Amino acid sequence: MTGRIPEKFVDELLARIDIVDVIDSRVPLRRAGKDYKACCPFHEEKTPSFTVSQDKQFYHCFGCGVHGSAIGFLMEYERLSFPEAVEELAARAGLAIPRESRPVAQAASGVPGDLALLGELLSHADRYYRRQLREHPQASVAVSYLKARGLSGEIAAEFGLGFAPDGWDNLVRALGGTAATEDALVAAGLAARKEGGKPYDRFRGRIMFPIHDYRGRIIGFGGRVFAQGEPKYLNSPETPLFHKGRELYGLFRARDALRRENRVLVVEGYMDVVALAQFGFDYAVATLGTATTREHLDRLFRYAPEVVFCFDGDRAGREAAWRALVNAMPVLHEGRQISFLFLPDGEDPDTLIRKEGLEAFVARLRTAVSLPDYLFQTLAAEVDLGRLDGRARLVELARPLLSNVPQGALRELMLARLAEISHLAPQKLSKLMEEASAPARQGTPAGRAVRPDAGGVPSLVKTALALLLQHPRLGRLVGDPQPFLALDGKGIPLLVDLMRLLTDQPELKTGAILEHFRDSKYIHHIGRLAALDHPMHQQDVEAEFTGLLRQLRCESNRQQIDRLSAKERAGGLDSAEKSELVRLLREKQELEREKLSRTS
Ligand code: UTP
Ligand code: MN
Repeated sequence: MTGRIPEKFVDELLARIDIVDVIDSRVPLRRAGKDYKACCPFHEEKTPSFTVSQDKQFYHCFGCGVHGSAIGFLMEYERLSFPEAVEELAARAGLAIPRESRPVAQAASGVPGDLALLGELLSHADRYYRRQLREHPQASVAVSYLKARGLSGEIAAEFGLGFAPDGWDNLVRALGGTAATEDALVAAGLAARKEGGKPYDRFRGRIMFPIHDYRGRIIGFGGRVFAQGEPKYLNSPETPLFHKGRELYGLFRARDALRRENRVLVVEGYMDVVALAQFGFDYAVATLGTATTREHLDRLFRYAPEVVFCFDGDRAGREAAWRALVNAMPVLHEGRQISFLFLPDGEDPDTLIRKEGLEAFVARLRTAVSLPDYLFQTLAAEVDLGRLDGRARLVELARPLLSNVPQGALRELMLARLAEISHLAPQKLSKLMEEASAPARQGTPAGRAVRPDAGGVPSLVKTALALLLQHPRLGRLVGDPQPFLALDGKGIPLLVDLMRLLTDQPELKTGAILEHFRDSKYIHHIGRLAALDHPMHQQDVEAEFTGLLRQLRCESNRQQIDRLSAKERAGGLDSAEKSELVRLLREKQELEREKLSRTS
């Protein structure tokens, strides 16, 4: 497989197939109104909240939040890569995939290059490192180190541990050759190079831990020093295949155990995962030296409804736990549970399970604190609950956190608990919460009253995005997206991108739009908006959208006038700016006239 799949082909493919067939042949669907439903294949549930829309060519689960196109479904359900999912669908539709060939060299510069070649190099490197651990004359020091740490030969082999010998170009010489492979080695994070120089091995004199993605493909490495040296662990850098904020060490190996246990233990280190597995604890995974992200959690919750975080009992451990808690709030859908297990000072899972054995370690899991308990314990420790103003402070601290929890029983129960601790009447607390989540009003220049009809640019943009994603044909109403670019606010660049795409291709369906943004940093945002339930009748959609466009145009006009007026007061305008201001003021009058004619 070579070359990149052209975007146009993906559009055509998604227009040709039907997501309902694709999903129905794997997860039988039942018709429900104009949509189709089933119990979600990605989380456990008894009543169906997994919905497939034929109209939008999009699936979405109201329970766990998964969503996407037919391609996205295959990637998640069959654990396929993007090209594999496209191949699968193309074969089904009887289409041949045209390829854009692109030199691998570009991968390093951020342009998606040939991912397949990077993957191949990574598995070559994996074989190379493993062979060195067995055969290299210097490997005995590494082997003794592993033995001294109590690792068995079997477990080292199971986790594919390897050895990167000392020296600058062992791997480069073994795998390199052509300039293209050298570039690919750099792109894969296996080698590095100084400006224009020869590439050199990234990992030298280290024990190598291969990192697999959730399908078992090697995507990166962690390397531990076993003699002197810094840093203790060196990891692959972010590459087109390796994203620390998304991947978890040991997940592929643990996947069946996770399903069996219905829970997963998240630990901090590679060695912890390996040692736990050696003692029979096979449902642990580790983050890769980063904080736990929402993406990590979303991924884990697809395998098991309960996530237990394991941290050191020291201050750093508590801080890491708090960060994980904050990131977890938005993914706390019903049915999901998170707990925190704190270990005695100075211990980690590796040292503990060696000291006390499997049973005692498993027993510790029962002492894990639930997320709600941990939240209130931590906040309560920060205030004086004996004082009325201390309890008010508790409410203020908890409010932003709880407002991130999705609507549902868990959120209600946590609010009830907060009401109890703070002695605040539950109705009063709910009211405060509503205020906290009301759409943020746009900041207004000094002295000017907030315009009640403005609603805030962020919420206008959000609604416009949701409408466009759910009813792409609205793109025909946009006209020129240029004026919206002048708006200041979150989401504007994305809105303009989407407007441009749909002015160009108004026939795209929701699912296909998502594919256009697959590599965008906005993809999660977009997916959520595409699934956002909007209490709006089909027939109102056009009127609503036109209204939004007009409000956004007014906002844009107002912001530009404000900016130029401020500049005028500060130091004056040049002639171009003056005539722009005149134009904007005239436009303002027109917009106001238009508004009057509509409301009368
Ligand atoms: P720890 O320092 O807690 O080490 O790092 P550990 O896992 O107990 O390792 P051993 O037992 O000394 O071998 C926890 C994790 O943080 C990341 C690694 O992912 C490591 O497993 N880390 C740590 C780094 O990425 N770089 C470092 O220099 C140190
Ligand atoms: Mn350790």
